[in-house]
Amino acid sequence: MFSKRFKQLTPYTPGEQPQNREYIKLNTNENPYPPSPLVEKYLKTADTDLLKLYPDPSSKKLREAIGEYYNLPPSMVFTGNGSDEVLSFCFYAFFDKDNGSLLFPEHSYSFYPVYCGFYDIPFERIPLEKDFSISVNSYIKGKNCSGIIFPNPNAPTGTYLKLPEIERLMSNTRKDRVVIIDEAYIDFGGESAVKLVNNFDNLLIVQTFSKSRSLAGLRVGFAIGNDKLISALVTVKDSFNSYPLDTLAQNAARIAIEDRDHFKKNRDNIIETREFTISNLKKEGWEVLPSMANFIFIRKKGIPGLNIYGFLKNKGLLVRYFGYPGIKDFVRVTIGKKKDMIVFLELLKSVRRK
Ligand SMILES: Cc1ncc(COP(=O)(O)O)c(C=O)c1O
Repeated sequence: MFSKRFKQLTPYTPGEQPQNREYIKLNTNENPYPPSPLVEKYLKTADTDLLKLYPDPSSKKLREAIGEYYNLPPSMVFTGNGSDEVLSFCFYAFFDKDNGSLLFPEHSYSFYPVYCGFYDIPFERIPLEKDFSISVNSYIKGKNCSGIIFPNPNAPTGTYLKLPEIERLMSNTRKDRVVIIDEAYIDFGGESAVKLVNNFDNLLIVQTFSKSRSLAGLRVGFAIGNDKLISALVTVKDSFNSYPLDTLAQNAARIAIEDRDHFKKNRDNIIETREFTISNLKKEGWEVLPSMANFIFIRKKGIPGLNIYGFLKNKGLLVRYFGYPGIKDFVRVTIGKKKDMIVFLELLKSVRRK
């Protein structure tokens, strides 16, 4: 009844979305603030008559708006149903069994190995440095690979690799190997590598509306790169589903990226709350990895990560615990509203060593 392919699938495990109890949710890196009020206004008054027609399969106006935001032509922009879908198309289009392994960090977005399983792509996890940062040297040390992908800032660590380092990586990577920088969290203080796409034809940047634009529920992601890479993604899309973005999503996302004032206010708020949270945690003796994201990765000597997670969950607050060797004592905490972070900081004071 089931295909061999199906039986071999190992799906991704998303963060908990419990329905049985009200939690303070600091576990899935969602934005605690609403999207642009212009998006709200549009969705409340949208012409539902439009829905009898199929949407624009190429999301032209949205791609134009993203292109305008980054000063690039729309031919360098691809849009998809969340960056997860965009990433999955990338894995299909660019990485191959015959070219060596795909390289990504040992601790990173856990969807990458899932796509590798799905498309039968061999991969190698590259260890992080002692301080949990990504080292470009370990990606260029004579590796013969089918490609490279990592989030910047990395998830779940939050650490950020500066642009000159990405440039160095690109200058030392074969031109026929695609490098993908997954910038899901770039808007929270980092500098986007979109600036480099005109210098490197094999560089692709993937971003999302889910985090900094508070639209995780709308499912809109995009990729930016050389026209050749973009048209490969269009070919993959048109081989799966020509209409991944519905009409409302295309219009709402366009309105969101055009509302720069709301975006800046929202983003600055998160950064301010992040810095407030970090300084309070440090005062209480917590180790916090340097974060340029809308989450932090924290631990305290002698307290297992599972205890922190379990204690907080019991008190009605969710954080994400991974439990992998090397990061067992850490939990990842999304930056929520300041009032929620104050509750979180108070609760943490009562976490016991055992
Ligand atoms: C590093 C990274 N990339 C991509 C995504 C996917 O985001 P979305 O599919 O909502 O655009 C996430 C979501 O948490 C993420 O953490």
